[in-house]
Amino acid sequence: MALLIFGTLFLPACLFFIWYFHIPRTFPSLPIIPIYVPLLGLWSSMGQDEIYERWFRAPLEAHGAVIVWHAGRWSILVSRPEWLTDMFRNENLYVKAGSQVKNPHSVIATLVGDNIINSHQNWKLYTSIMKPGLQKKVFDTTSLLRQSNKLDDVLISKGKGSIQVNDDVQKWAVDVMGENFLALDFESLGNPNVVRLESLQSTIKATLFNPIYFTFPDLDRFSWLLSSRKHGYRIMREFDDRLYTRTMEMVRRTSKSDMVSHMLADAYLTKKITEKQFRDNLKITFLTAHENAQQLVNSMFWQLGTKLDVQSRVRDEIVQLSRVHPAPSQEIINTLPYLTSVVLELLRVFPPVSQLINRVAMQPAVLGGDLPIPKGTFVGWNAWLVHSNTAIWGADAREFRPERWGSTVEEMQARFRRETVRGTYIPFNAHRRKCLGQGFALLQLKILLFVLLGRVRWVVDPEYRLKLTPVGAPCFILSVPC
Ligand code: HEM
Repeated sequence: MALLIFGTLFLPACLFFIWYFHIPRTFPSLPIIPIYVPLLGLWSSMGQDEIYERWFRAPLEAHGAVIVWHAGRWSILVSRPEWLTDMFRNENLYVKAGSQVKNPHSVIATLVGDNIINSHQNWKLYTSIMKPGLQKKVFDTTSLLRQSNKLDDVLISKGKGSIQVNDDVQKWAVDVMGENFLALDFESLGNPNVVRLESLQSTIKATLFNPIYFTFPDLDRFSWLLSSRKHGYRIMREFDDRLYTRTMEMVRRTSKSDMVSHMLADAYLTKKITEKQFRDNLKITFLTAHENAQQLVNSMFWQLGTKLDVQSRVRDEIVQLSRVHPAPSQEIINTLPYLTSVVLELLRVFPPVSQLINRVAMQPAVLGGDLPIPKGTFVGWNAWLVHSNTAIWGADAREFRPERWGSTVEEMQARFRRETVRGTYIPFNAHRRKCLGQGFALLQLKILLFVLLGRVRWVVDPEYRLKLTPVGAPCFILSVPC
């Protein structure tokens, strides 16, 4: 009888688990990160930085790559710059394959769909439509100055003492994204009423980065059983519908502009793209253009609130400029060397996109001529570890030291380009698929610092302990003595 129960119940289950969790035999011989590591967030208070430090740093620095369980499969995570450069350069061999390919049934795939960031096949089509709206030669700083002043007003209105900034930073980031890319005024910052499209973002982040579903997206298939997954799909659909409706109303009311939303709507209405492609690209613009800025600004508040010498040195530079240019243009703000070095160093020490595994080998390949990659294997990168590797960035790699970038803006820009091409500085990725919003993101942070530092000083609350979230954002408390 016992044998029968074992044979009918346990044996199939055991065989299933062996099949599901086995590492393909064709994988190269590399260190393996234990499968429980991505789940640590469930029972420990460890931040992502501590997890990287404890489990990833030593094997990655010694071998240049590791085998890791990610989003329901074993994948290869790379940190050796020459291998990364090979991966980024050969985008037709290591092709982009986001969750819409990896786990098309999942909650995250419902959210992002097929879009300009994760698509291989349709990338050229999407880029031809959206690029002019994402990469303007010169961005007008008027709206950035106004939004940054508004964030400052809201923070100051909270009074002196300990305050938490993350919620207001998210609202600011959503409003800035809306105004500069979608021609939508969300006006969530300082609004006593809830702006649903903004407030949904916190729910979306919590739903997506739940360690158990992030690690095992196959569980999303059981939404009929798991109410949190049912809720997840509902939230993603609500976001999709609200953004679509709001954008279409705006498009009907206004004439064409150089905004991404107008360009996408035009392509949709003239049938160059489908309604789904329109919706997916609207959503990714909304997400990527606010989320990364939000994380970077959180890191900035923390870092400059602990390195007060850096805070006052940038302030001196900014105050001097503001006497001549109280509302600087992009060209003027870009002339400040210390500000430039602070922004580049923030992106090095706190890359908002700290890790991504979203490429798949189309053929059997040999990465950098050294590492065999079987066909169909997912490969990715970890910017946090590349940027903090002492063999790459020197003995002080883990310190925040803006001076390392040089003393003139030209010198800094040259180093920025050089390190990006070499695969040693990848906050925006590199080569053909590098970030199209990079220019705007740098400007956005510079203008925010220009406004903030001219009006407030802050220190990090001594009670606060820095912890990077799964997507790399420190959330914290600080005090703002005006
Ligand atoms: C601090 C802010 C930002 C950071 C750190 C950042 C980072 C990145 C990274 C790492 C990638 C490559 C993703 C991958 O390999 O799959 C990327 C791609 C992209 N980013 Fe950003 N991003 C930022 C802001 C923005 C903004 C403001 C926009 C404007 C909408 C934007 C639009 C894009 C687009 C369209 C791509 C896809 C490029 C392509 O594949 O051709 N990003 N970004």
